[in-house]
Order: sequence, then structure tokens, then C-alpha cells
Amino acid sequence: MPMVPRLLIADDWSDYALLDSGNRRKLERAGPYRIIRPEPQALWPPGLSENDWRADAVFEAGEGEERGTWQHGPALPDSWVLHYGDLAFVARCTPFRHLGFFPEHAVHWRRIAAALSARRAETDQPPAVLNLFGYSGLASLIAARAGARVTHVDASKKAIGYAVENQRQAGLEDRPIRWLVDDAVRFAEREVRRGRHYEGIILDPPKYGRGPKGEVWRFHEDLPRLLAACRQLLGTDPLFVILTAYAVQLSFLALHHALSHHLDGLDGAVESGEMVLPEESIGRLLPTAIFAAWHKKAEPDEA
Ligand SMILES: C[S@@+](CC[C@H](N)C(=O)[O-])C[C@H]1O[C@@H](n2cnc3c(N)ncnc32)[C@H](O)[C@@H]1O
Repeated sequence: MPMVPRLLIADDWSDYALLDSGNRRKLERAGPYRIIRPEPQALWPPGLSENDWRADAVFEAGEGEERGTWQHGPALPDSWVLHYGDLAFVARCTPFRHLGFFPEHAVHWRRIAAALSARRAETDQPPAVLNLFGYSGLASLIAARAGARVTHVDASKKAIGYAVENQRQAGLEDRPIRWLVDDAVRFAEREVRRGRHYEGIILDPPKYGRGPKGEVWRFHEDLPRLLAACRQLLGTDPLFVILTAYAVQLSFLALHHALSHHLDGLDGAVESGEMVLPEESIGRLLPTAIFAAWHKKAEPDEA
């Protein structure tokens, strides 16, 4: 069967916009603030004039480095509240250039929420979702709000702190979410030994990372082992497995084949491609990440 790559366009934000891109930078709006960050993929001239590239905060990266410094005036607070739909969360300028959220991930949230709500309507048992490398927790909150019991794992105490703050900001403190500081691979393999099962798994691994006890994560080397564990963690009637990757030397096809191999035999389909942000200026689509996602086959009346 020929495989058609999908472009998933994150076009349902009102509090966030990619205003323009070019000259290896991007100009964004996050709530009332305009932000300029490096963007290695923007190998084209900006659509807007230099005058329009005014910003409240500019991230200057060290040569070839993730870390860098923010230049901003006193008007920019340490953190501020944004909304995705009616989900409130906290944005901030972090030392690793991120804003505390990845707007392009929204392309997966609606589908996850719909699948979980539909399952919740069929049964009293809340579906279980595992969010590995979960960062500031927006996917976990979307899943919990849709009725899931969520296990969120991240190696960084700071990231878990952001996630707990987001839970409070979203008013979802009463939802069943376990926030765990742990190594993703070790945790997943321990869950396999405990015989635990999940109906949905989300994985957003970095290219390179470290667990809280110094465990090393290398995308290419460790992904097959993690996917093997995830396969064993899926219950008898799973809903989704979503895998995203940034800044790795891989095609979406590599994710596609890896996920398809590990999930072979399940009643569903893998789709894969790129997650992109639409530019407001002249409408180009900025590539952000590659993904492969397995979803349970839709029932005939949902298709
Ligand atoms: C920011 S996110 C997702 C990747 C991101 N979208 C990017 O640009 O690469 C990566 C998260 O994985 C976490 N992380 C890194 N290594 C980990 C590990 N071994 N186990 C669990 N979490 C880890 C980090 O703390 C971080 O919150």
C-alpha cells in the first residue's frame, strides 16, 4: 500500500501565532507578547519588513548550543497565562529557548481528547494514558480533562514543577494524574514487570537526555527498546500511540516503520509525517517535528 505522508497543521490556536519566519529565526506571538527565537529550518527571507520584527523578548543562542540568553525589557513577566481553547496554562521564557509549551503538539490533542471521551462514554473505567518525556504536561492535562487516568513521566523535577503549576492553572487539581520524576525507559520496563496496561501512550523523546539517576537516553539507540516496552504496556483494546521527534537525523518514515513493526497485529493504522505551524505573514508552513501515530481503527459510524 503506498504511504502518503501527512502534514498536520497546528491552526487552531488563538493565544499563539507564528507571525513570520526567515533568516533562521522566527517571530511568534504568545498572548500579548512578541518573541523572536532561532529557527534553523527557516532558510528563506522573512515575509515581513525589518520594522515588523519588533519583539518583547529575543533568545540569543550560543553557537551550536541549546542554552542561551533572553534579552527582554522589564515589561515581560517571568511567566504569564495562555489558553489553548479553554485550557489555561503558563508560558515562560526558559533557558533552553522553549516557551514552556510546544504549540505544534496541538495537532494531536484534539484527536486524543475525542478518542478518550468516546471511550469514557462506553465504560465506567477511565482509560489509562502514559505520557513519557511529558515536559510541562499539556498533553497530560488534555487527556485527564477528557476522562483519562494519566501517568506522566519526566526526568526533570523542574519540568514536573511546570506541569503541576499548569494543572493548578487549568483548574484540574481533582483529576487523577500521577506526576513522576523518573527515567522513561526504566519506568516503562518496570511497568511491564508489574503487568500494568495503558489504552494510550504518548512519547516525545528528545534527541539526547538523562534520567534522574544519570540514565542516558539516545534517540536512535534507545527508541526500539522503548517501543518494545510500550507494546507490552498496551491493553487489549488500545486507542493510540503517538511518537514525535525533533532535531534528529531521521525521516518520518523511520518512525513510521519502527512504530508499525512494534504495533503489528493491532486493529488500527499508523500515519506519519510532519507537524507544522502556519505563518501569518505569507502563509508558509514551518516544519517543526516529525511524527508517527497509531490510532485504533474508527468504528464505522465515527469514520
Ligand atoms: C522538552 S521534551 C520533548 C522534546 C522536545 N519537544 C524537543 O524539542 O526535543 C523532552 C523532555 O524529556 C525529558 N527527558 C529527557 N531525558 C529523559 C529521560 N531519560 N527520561 C524521562 N524524561 C526525560 C526532559 O526533561 C524534557 O522535559
